[in-house]
Amino acid sequence: MREPNIYWSESLEAEGLTEFAPEVIDLPPWDKTTVVGAPIPRIDGHDRVGGTAVYTRDVALPGMLHCAVVRSPHAHAMVKRFDTTAAAAMPGVHAIITCESPDAKIPWNLTNQGAFSQLLDPHCRYEGEEVAAVAAETAQQAADAARAVVVEYDPLPMVVDYEKATAPDAPKVHAVGNQPSPARSSQRGDVQAAFATADAVVERTFRTPCELHMPLEVHGSVAQWDSGKLEVWDSTQGVYAVRDSLALAFKLPLSSVRVTSPYMGGGFGSKLELGKYTVIAAVLARLTGRAVKCVLTREEMLRAVGNRPANTITIKAGARKDGTLVALDGNFLGAMGAYPTGATSSYLLLDLYTCPNVHVVERSVLINAGQARAFRAPGYPQAAWALEQVMDELAGKLAMDPIAFRLKNIPAVSQLRSGQPYTSTGLADCLRTGAEKFDWASARKQAASKGHIRRGVGVAAGMWGSPGSPSATAIVKLYPDGSANVNSGAADIGTGTKTVFAQVVTEELGVPVERIRVEYADTATTQYAPSSGGSQTILVNTPAVRAAAADVKNQLLALAAEELKKDLATLSVKDGSIVIAGESKPVPFSALRSLAQRQQLVGVGRRAPHPVGKVALPFAAHFAEVEVNTRTGAVKVIRYVAAQDSGRVMNALTFENQVLGGVTMGIGFGLMENRVLDRQTGKLASGSWHDYKIPTAMDFPVDFQCVPVDPHDKECNSVGAKGLGEPATIPSAAAIANAVCHALGARIYDAPITPASIVTALASKGGK
Ligand code: MOS
Repeated sequence: MREPNIYWSESLEAEGLTEFAPEVIDLPPWDKTTVVGAPIPRIDGHDRVGGTAVYTRDVALPGMLHCAVVRSPHAHAMVKRFDTTAAAAMPGVHAIITCESPDAKIPWNLTNQGAFSQLLDPHCRYEGEEVAAVAAETAQQAADAARAVVVEYDPLPMVVDYEKATAPDAPKVHAVGNQPSPARSSQRGDVQAAFATADAVVERTFRTPCELHMPLEVHGSVAQWDSGKLEVWDSTQGVYAVRDSLALAFKLPLSSVRVTSPYMGGGFGSKLELGKYTVIAAVLARLTGRAVKCVLTREEMLRAVGNRPANTITIKAGARKDGTLVALDGNFLGAMGAYPTGATSSYLLLDLYTCPNVHVVERSVLINAGQARAFRAPGYPQAAWALEQVMDELAGKLAMDPIAFRLKNIPAVSQLRSGQPYTSTGLADCLRTGAEKFDWASARKQAASKGHIRRGVGVAAGMWGSPGSPSATAIVKLYPDGSANVNSGAADIGTGTKTVFAQVVTEELGVPVERIRVEYADTATTQYAPSSGGSQTILVNTPAVRAAAADVKNQLLALAAEELKKDLATLSVKDGSIVIAGESKPVPFSALRSLAQRQQLVGVGRRAPHPVGKVALPFAAHFAEVEVNTRTGAVKVIRYVAAQDSGRVMNALTFENQVLGGVTMGIGFGLMENRVLDRQTGKLASGSWHDYKIPTAMDFPVDFQCVPVDPHDKECNSVGAKGLGEPATIPSAAAIANAVCHALGARIYDAPITPASIVTALASKGGK
């Protein structure tokens, strides 16, 4: 189904439309907060760690069947023949669909060039692609029957090396060729002329690996039909996005599709869109008249539901003696996998540093491997890996400190958005404050090494370019006993969204956090929220939650003024009570007879549009200290400072938690993660946790500091938050790479940095 694009909002202005006309309660930004920002533990923490939280795979409906998917063992093949006779006769089996079933001919991989595939497609373009599915009484019976489905294939020539896939004679993944869209180029200024004026120029080529999403909860759905209406439980980042795509797939009105996401165990971008497993479950549910559950195994997940595309990036950068950046030229190639999708990564080059002359060429190529999807800050860690290493090399050539060089080139405006100023930019502050907390100056000097253990420190900066799509509605209800309910369709993907919503209601309405229930992620009963991705969940939804709480507060104070016969201006709310100025005894909400009489007060809040003529984005600077063992090639990150300008800290615990997770992911990207495809067969060689290494707590630096740099942004939105999840991982791998270079005196251009690449780098340097 068409991928929801939450990273670039279409320009409504171009169509002559305004963003939207919300009925927003005009709230001034908070000055000081008492509950928002506090380190309040997750309101659902006990349920999550205690095992009582219900995730999609825990959903058990009466008569529910289980589904297993038959997948292509070939990287590229055409299905010749099916024989389902034996499988259909096996115990417990209720239905089998194959790519020959009329029900399976649902168009898939929709692009503006048409559908590139269908739900179950006889043309298999990667190992693990879906060709048939079985519904049976138990998961085991379904798996057994799926194995008994006979499929004959005609293997086809395949290509999994994305650089080779660009060759004119490479095997074609699709008839249109491996580059269905032409190269995209953009230019500002005059790059060639500017390079001629540069005192130092660096040109390097970098490669970044294909990373596999690793949410703890695997992908899965439960589907059932009721009088022609479809109901789906899905592990998703966006119930509304999944609803929209399901309605399209089954040609249903939006109101006939209900999607809920109960507790959710992470997505990182791989759960932003409708999955084939969801539609397969729905098709089988319709055929059998039963509820059907389709939950993937980890091994299926690693093949079929997305990845961070591998990139090859060449950057040429020039600067003058005084450290002024004069020209940037970038060439980007990204591996989309078997179907067209976003694999671009040039954004950072165009906007992170002030540079009047920039030229970029970007190409994306198809290969016979699982399709890429959004992966925490799509494109940005890759670009940071390249750009931030080039910046360090350039600083070295100019004999400048890497931080001083970066500080020389900090923009106050978004060069990509026609020079509009930022509502706030803490980039310089992140570099300065972070450097101070890290003790950069002395650490950089004395990173002297002892024997075969060498130490180094490195820095990298980053920004995140998506402002979020602000349409969001929330409802707050206050009950006669003074408890409250907040209702928003946002998914809490594990980041603590529910807790922050409760804090916002407490801040505005005075109802204690523990008396608030959060209803979320259900298209039938909760209000519209955009997908929880693009680091937008908090900055888009909490202004709506705040407005809803303020709406209730206004109604409540009006009631109280009348009932208590007080001047409205003397009343305020605090700790579940009405406070009357000049009187010592607050009146609990539960003591208000007019509230009891009404039974509930309902407030509706909407998010205001983005500020006009300004750009609100988050920034970061990360600092790493590493130890490199030159005998074993092992790299250990021993000390780390992450300075983040994400605007207001909404919850000190969830904030640090996001940054900790982002840095952990950066350690994986920089030092270990790599999808390996066998060159002979195209099969995934790193298809399990045994073969695909991800970082654990053991890899995380003991000495870690999260440094929020809050610019007190009064313009970005009514809560002052700018988004955190993605900026927390953008510069981290690059900071580690720069630290490794500082330790070794040799630079490694390809991620991940492995023991083998350390040894190679040392050998080429003639050292040991
Ligand atoms: Mo993110 S990659 O928007 O989940």
